[in-house]
Amino acid sequence: VHWTDAERHIIADLWGKINHDEIGGQALARLLIVYPWTQRYFSSFGNLSNAAAIIGNPKVAAHGKVVLGGLTKAVQNLDNVKGIYTQLSTLHSEKLHVDPSNFTLLGDTFTVTLAAKFGPSVFTPEVHETWQKFLNVVVAALGKQYH
Ligand code: HEM
Repeated sequence: VHWTDAERHIIADLWGKINHDEIGGQALARLLIVYPWTQRYFSSFGNLSNAAAIIGNPKVAAHGKVVLGGLTKAVQNLDNVKGIYTQLSTLHSEKLHVDPSNFTLLGDTFTVTLAAKFGPSVFTPEVHETWQKFLNVVVAALGKQYH
């Protein structure tokens, strides 16, 4: 994957604007609400019985922050996302048995979360385009160790 200077700038700029304590939890909560079958992987997280419970669940918020930390590593290593995600891909495949189609769904809820947070002045079509390219790279890298 080739990244132009403009794309690198867009990703770095977007990442600098986000609240790292909240955006991952919000995106994960949306995943569990909008695509409720994804809840099956989080049976140890306690009450996920309705949208309010999911949004207020501290384990969802905490794990969202962990996921966001994983994305931050990709942002910081745009030229080697596959390399830095090797172990994470193996974990999701062999230990967690997460169906890889769910990576795309979480990517989508991140996109909606960012768009809702920043609105059209920041999350322009151009930013969206570059963000989607980043997600495609992340999803491909996380799916790499599935076979
Ligand atoms: C754990 C990242 C998508 C389910 C983790 C961990 C990270 C991570 C960094 C912690 C790994 C460790 O403890 O060493 C990501 C990223 C994703 C993603 C970057 C995509 C953008 C998903 C999806 C699901 C999922 C879509 C399921 C629908 C899990 C589960 C754990 C986990 C169940 C273990 C949670 C626990 O009990 O602590 N993920 N993940 N992940 N992930 Fe993901």
